[in-house]
Amino acid sequence: MKERQPTRATAPGKIILFGEHAVVYGRPAIAAPLAQIRAVATIHPARSGGAILLAPDLGVERSLADAEIDDALALTVQQVREAAGLQRLPDMTIAVTSDIPIAAGLGSGAAITAAATRALAHYLNLETWDSDEWVSALTYEVEKIHHGTPSGIDNTVVAYEQPVYFVRREPQNIIETFNVQQPLRLLVGDTGISSSTKVVVGDVRCFWQQDPQRFNALFDDCGAISEAGREAIEKGAQQEIGRLMNENHALLVDMTVSSPELDTLVAAALNAGALGAKMSGGGRGGNMIALVTSGTEEAVRQALLAAGAVRVLESTIESRGVT
Ligand code: MEV
Repeated sequence: MKERQPTRATAPGKIILFGEHAVVYGRPAIAAPLAQIRAVATIHPARSGGAILLAPDLGVERSLADAEIDDALALTVQQVREAAGLQRLPDMTIAVTSDIPIAAGLGSGAAITAAATRALAHYLNLETWDSDEWVSALTYEVEKIHHGTPSGIDNTVVAYEQPVYFVRREPQNIIETFNVQQPLRLLVGDTGISSSTKVVVGDVRCFWQQDPQRFNALFDDCGAISEAGREAIEKGAQQEIGRLMNENHALLVDMTVSSPELDTLVAAALNAGALGAKMSGGGRGGNMIALVTSGTEEAVRQALLAAGAVRVLESTIESRGVT
């Protein structure tokens, strides 16, 4: 038999522009890929040993056969094996690396799964390997390990690698791409504090169960902001986008998912001239985003670093992918 060729696939990090948490409860949200930080999966043929999972950054090397039941990479590999209709995988190594910080609200888990799914499907000659929809659907199943009750927005944005308008729906989510009239220049400021999205999403669920009226109203307001945010992005109304980001952040503070460190970075960005700023993702740590112009970018970056950001990335959001 012809020897299989090594394959490699990557997937980006992500930010949530509008609507995190409320999106779990069926309200619309908007997310965009963060292209310059990525997860990479590489598959190589081996001579023996079955399927070996490698995560060199974490010093992990284990056989698929020995993996724990809640091992996200093992589940990823098993899903693709089943999709390929194979009882057993050929001898090979499956290596994943990532420069997306873990537990930082940047979609690291989803990106690793999406990259590994695509690389392995390609390696096994599955035609679906370049279907974003298929990669997203398989990634969603693994996201349940990371997030408990994920909305599906993270797997969608990292698999499609485009800004998306997303609404969680049964039997099928609403996923739309849209026109970004004027590129959005964002700075992404990292508090350096790790936070588990699963825990924060679980806390919000408890609060919602205790006071559904108040939390449903907060979710409704976030959903309305996402709708208005999409319209503003389609029109290129930068001031309005900034204002909506500030409003969304205030609602997330009310939801208790922000943190003093995130609030400090948001305030620093606004004081330095950002058009708007908000936390992004699960919250209680992780990252915030600030909308800047070429005139304010440097001042905002310096202000974020002075206020304690451990890292500041820049990202330009455009209609097709980002730089
Ligand atoms: C995480 O990126 C976004 C959350 O809304 C969780 C989810 O949508 O699954 C906090």
